Amino acid sequence: MNIAENIKYIGVNDHDIDLFEGQYVVENGMAYNSYLIIDEKTAVMDSVDARFGDEWLGKIKAALGEKAPDYLIVQHMEPDHSANISAFMKAYPQAVIVASAKAFAMMKQFYGSDYADRQIVVSEGDTLSLGGRELKFFTAPMVHWPEVIVTYDSTDKVLFSADAFGKFGALDVEEDWACEARRYYFGIVGKYGAQAQALLKKASTLDIKTICPLHGPVLSENLDYYLGLYNTWTTYGVETDGVMIAYTSVYGNTKKAALLLEEKLKEKGCPKVAVNDLARCDMAEAVEDAFRYGKIVLATTTYNAEIFPFMREFINDLTERNFKNKTVAFIENGSWAAMAEKVMRKMLEGCKDIAYAENGVHIKSALSEENLAQIDALADELCK
Ligand code: FEO
Repeated sequence: MNIAENIKYIGVNDHDIDLFEGQYVVENGMAYNSYLIIDEKTAVMDSVDARFGDEWLGKIKAALGEKAPDYLIVQHMEPDHSANISAFMKAYPQAVIVASAKAFAMMKQFYGSDYADRQIVVSEGDTLSLGGRELKFFTAPMVHWPEVIVTYDSTDKVLFSADAFGKFGALDVEEDWACEARRYYFGIVGKYGAQAQALLKKASTLDIKTICPLHGPVLSENLDYYLGLYNTWTTYGVETDGVMIAYTSVYGNTKKAALLLEEKLKEKGCPKVAVNDLARCDMAEAVEDAFRYGKIVLATTTYNAEIFPFMREFINDLTERNFKNKTVAFIENGSWAAMAEKVMRKMLEGCKDIAYAENGVHIKSALSEENLAQIDALADELCK
């Protein structure tokens, strides 16, 4: 696959992975992208996961023949991209690594060497000439780690964006971009919206025709669509008008309330309702939904004078990702000494710009007539 006449794709697809980063389900696998820029000097952009070193080195050889690459540009040190640095440096003893100072420090930590006599340290605004073209580097701290740089090639107007604009899924599987890019973004980078915004600001000063991320497809058409979604996600904006209901249920009574609310919301014309059973759904999917919609309903039981564990995990996942700018409503269930709403409110205390619904649902064991009226009132309020 050619990105431009002299930029080639040399990444790999991974269909053997069970959990990406040890936690994310990736039904359609994962791609570790790497690119080759061929000019008077030749640069390789990042490496790939450890299990694909031979395939990746084979692709470099197939593209260059006996010619050796001059530079390995390491934009990100997470091992899914850096694992084959040592193999590359062994295969190409004349090559030099280009990376940030922080990346070289991590290189020593991960792989025992920072290649002190074969390194070029770059920081914000630095450039590297490949002869016919010049690469310019921008720092992108915390998108997704502190050492990250992105690279702009003004000749072909390509932004090598590191983890930004990445998604789950191998490249030989067709699937919707936004769904898996959103799950990836909020799962992996979500906490650092401000830092991702800073990167978007830098990108807005560049004339970009193609975005080459480290995961997911190369983006070359309709870039405003992708940039627009990233702008919404990184500012914790509302992407889809509607309500997200997240529930846990022990004997089905809280579930009944959640599903009845869904029904009422639909009846009353709510444009979209997403429902997640937190004990059974992919938690990362529920997390992306919570960030996607403007209104969320948390429904759970009191449990050990606390809340049901899956709801605790879910709220923790939200708060540690800077959850903000939402309307939140509660459905609680407690057969005696109900605590659930109190505990959930406390967990969300540190979140900014949260509006709480006036109506709530307070179940004691099973749905009562009063609860039905509460659900109806909550649906009215959320549909306003
Ligand atoms: Fe794909 Fe943050 O590495």
